[in-house]
Amino acid sequence: MRRADMAAGLNSCIFFFLALIFLQCFCGSRAREIADRHGMQMQQTKDSNNYIQNQLNGMLGKHEKDLAVNVFFNEEDLKLGNKIPIYFPIKGPSAKPPLLSREQADSIPFSSSKLPYLLQLFSFSKDSPQANAMADTLSHCEFKPGKGEIKFCATSLESMLDSALNVFGSKTPFKVLTTNHLKDQTTSILQNYTIQDEPKVISSSKMVACHTMSYPYAVYYCHSQESDTKLFKVLLLGENGNKVDAMAICHMDTSDWDPNHVAFCVLKSVPGRSSPVCHFFPADHLVWVASTSAL
Ligand SMILES: *[C@@H]1O[C@H](CO)[C@@H](O)[C@H](O)[C@H]1NC(C)=O
Repeated sequence: MRRADMAAGLNSCIFFFLALIFLQCFCGSRAREIADRHGMQMQQTKDSNNYIQNQLNGMLGKHEKDLAVNVFFNEEDLKLGNKIPIYFPIKGPSAKPPLLSREQADSIPFSSSKLPYLLQLFSFSKDSPQANAMADTLSHCEFKPGKGEIKFCATSLESMLDSALNVFGSKTPFKVLTTNHLKDQTTSILQNYTIQDEPKVISSSKMVACHTMSYPYAVYYCHSQESDTKLFKVLLLGENGNKVDAMAICHMDTSDWDPNHVAFCVLKSVPGRSSPVCHFFPADHLVWVASTSAL
């Protein structure tokens, strides 16, 4: 993928959730509650999959919080011809956080200890939602990785590429996969999508998923877990005719997950070994895989 294409692909929307209408009430208030509990609990949890809740914290408007969206589904839903309601967030150029070059990013401190300075730099008051989202992103990036987990935050494409190179090693070719909207889409809508092809399993000896975080500029939270995951490529057709070549992942063992994770609310399940959580990737999130894996 060319750098310019990648930058354009990377730089789109932030949101990660969609509302299943029938769950909106319950999950909406639940999500708000979670979003309101900044800081402490986030830092205590060992579950790195809580990056998702960071995005809720970054949803500033009441409407967006109420939308309390999700892209979660059960593995058995992933079948040819099946219909799944999905919200793929699309953000206009003015709402996208800017992607910095490595030089620019490296000139700005990226540390919780520098938060007061950073708030001044970006002109956010101490208790603003933006300040909370920034604090939250920094603390996520500063968690120590769990056992068997690799994690890093990247503030530029260059640093993400370098870190990915470290994970795969110089001898393993690797590539990046994203969700692609095959037709230009200008608005985000919640709609049913029909699975057009048999979902393809992408097997890769290693895999690093990178998620956008709420921050004044583009920050990616990247992680790779030893725990059992299945990566899929799924061709979807929306009711409005939009086609999406989507990436999806199933976390097969969620026994380490925070029981308060919004996914369990949406899927009406609890953490466990036989309680997978699957989700689609929004267009600006990335998955790095060994490029020997078949597509
Ligand atoms: C999706 O389809 C189901 C069943 O046909 C329907 O009940 C539901 O309202 C639809 N959801 C959306 C978001 O259109």
